[in-house]
Amino acid sequence: MHRVAISGTGIFTPEEVITNAELVASYNEYAHRQNKLHADAIEAGDREPMAMSSEEFIVKASGIERRHVVSKFGILDPGIMHPVLPERAEDELSLMAEISVKAADEAMKKAGLTAADIDAVICAASNHERAYPAVAIEVQQALGIKGFAFDMNVACSSATFGIQLASDMIRTGSARAILMVNPEITSGHQEWRDRDCHFIFGDVCTAVVLQRADEVKTDYAYEVLATRCLTEFSNNIRNNNGFLRRTREGHMADRRDMQFHQEGRKVFKQVVPMVAELMLGHLAEQGIEPQGLSRLWLHQANKGMNDLIGSKVLGREPSREEQPNVLQDYANTSSAGSIIAFSKFSDDLPTGSLGVICSFGAGYSAGSVIVRKL
Ligand code: COA
Repeated sequence: MHRVAISGTGIFTPEEVITNAELVASYNEYAHRQNKLHADAIEAGDREPMAMSSEEFIVKASGIERRHVVSKFGILDPGIMHPVLPERAEDELSLMAEISVKAADEAMKKAGLTAADIDAVICAASNHERAYPAVAIEVQQALGIKGFAFDMNVACSSATFGIQLASDMIRTGSARAILMVNPEITSGHQEWRDRDCHFIFGDVCTAVVLQRADEVKTDYAYEVLATRCLTEFSNNIRNNNGFLRRTREGHMADRRDMQFHQEGRKVFKQVVPMVAELMLGHLAEQGIEPQGLSRLWLHQANKGMNDLIGSKVLGREPSREEQPNVLQDYANTSSAGSIIAFSKFSDDLPTGSLGVICSFGAGYSAGSVIVRKL
């Protein structure tokens, strides 16, 4: 069995930003227009008027202040309310592959590796822009990597499940070095017309290089000491869009259930204890005291959730340094969130420092990755 290390990470952050103020202004204009359009039905009591959104609510309920998106065009237009992206020919690099290559370049550079050193590519993300061929294989070709590649989807937990898979493959010898990318174009499945969730998501791509620990070429590396994944079926976060859509009458219509929808309160209540238990059980199994952890890099969905999980794990309120949040700037970037936090806040720790990368989300799914700075 080989020891495994994360030797490089990369982030591609789209340039365009939507602030809460811009988001709320366009949503409220949309809601006003809808209420005007349906004034008679509202007046007759046949329809509820759409309620307005507010910046104060968004920051208080989630901690989110702004989000990056691949294109603002369309999202902020009250007559459109979703991103509008130019069509690409089949021989052009797809959008998910394009942002993956950008994040991968940074991660491979950080690890001091070239395409010739990588044996496999995993694209782990909560949405894939087509059924096949796999985005990962397109990324593999664009970077000139030999070996094999595949896509996987465990929603917001895709990256930690991907790290477990890559680590197991490296440990047992089926690959020496693996590139994992997490291109999250969440703006495509977000329902921008629903005030309960229109503020939640943002776009980004992260990349992680994993390799045999004894082959690491640079000063920066974290050994993957142990991984643990958990799933429990729940309909509380769901998206019904899928390849059988056209087979069911009425399913091609503009239906609310074909985008992200959730029971936010239930998710909050049910997922917090599930994740804290997973992390504490995983640490105990490895003989690691939570007090011995230097950092928690948690999934970035909601600041309140993270504060609670951190407090349950450490037995006290974590400091901002111990548990960095990036969601104020990025919002929820699905599988990429904990990797952004890890990538931005892992250089400074001294050798021997212990930490946990942890994700959670739809499924339900949760993944815990215990790492030690080499
Ligand atoms: N602006 C103003 N008010 C809003 C609003 C908005 N954008 N969205 C909802 N509200 C209202 C609600 O209608 C509700 O009004 P009511 O009390 O009159 O019924 C009130 O604010 C509270 O709404 P609620 O949905 O209960 O808020 P919350 O405190 O639970 O926060 C979430 C909502 C989504 C931020 C929170 O539940 C959450 O983060 N849950 C976990 C979600 C998660 O992590 N999902 C994983 C996704 S991968």
